[in-house]
Amino acid sequence: MHKQQQTGGVVLPIIIVVVAVVLFAMFVPTGGRAPSPDQQQEVAERIQPIGLVEVKAAASNGPARTGEEKVYKAQCAACHAAGALGAPKFGDAGAWGPRVKTGFEALLNSALKGKNSMPAQSGGAASDYEIARAVVYMANQGGAKFDEPKAPAAAASAAQ
Ligand code: HEC
Repeated sequence: MHKQQQTGGVVLPIIIVVVAVVLFAMFVPTGGRAPSPDQQQEVAERIQPIGLVEVKAAASNGPARTGEEKVYKAQCAACHAAGALGAPKFGDAGAWGPRVKTGFEALLNSALKGKNSMPAQSGGAASDYEIARAVVYMANQGGAKFDEPKAPAAAASAAQ
């Protein structure tokens, strides 16, 4: 009984001193110039979203939308966004209507082989499948109701 009280009386102050030293060590450096690991993490998280947005945007334009917006913007918008060189304008049902009536195969053929001012494959390096999807995307914005082209092999053979 008496011994226990004595032990407690010695150990407790030691614990208090240790805790105080640890707290002191934790708080002093954060006030200084060198950023603590917590602050570094915080800064990293604040910087990160800039890079993440780009990665996410690229990813969402990935496999699922290969031929749609991505190819359209990269290869077709130059002429079709504003209707340059007499191209049927994107989303202009009046300009697309008569062309849509010729059917998907005819439109795809024009896009693949070129037509008047439009160079074959739009002059770019897109695959037949990507061109096909861009045609569907653009034509559907102009009033068509074409189905999504199927697997690359099917689209390629349909074009021949
Ligand atoms: C250099 C300009 C240019 C680019 C780039 C371009 N086009 Fe065209 N496109 C035209 C012009 C001009 C026409 C109208 C051709 C005509 O009927 O005289 C046209 C017409 C079309 C037509 C209708 C064809 C028809 O038979 O009536 C389709 C479909 C088409 N483009 C798809 C595309 C796709 C898909 C892309 C991108 C992969 C693309 N174009 C890129 C200029 C362009």
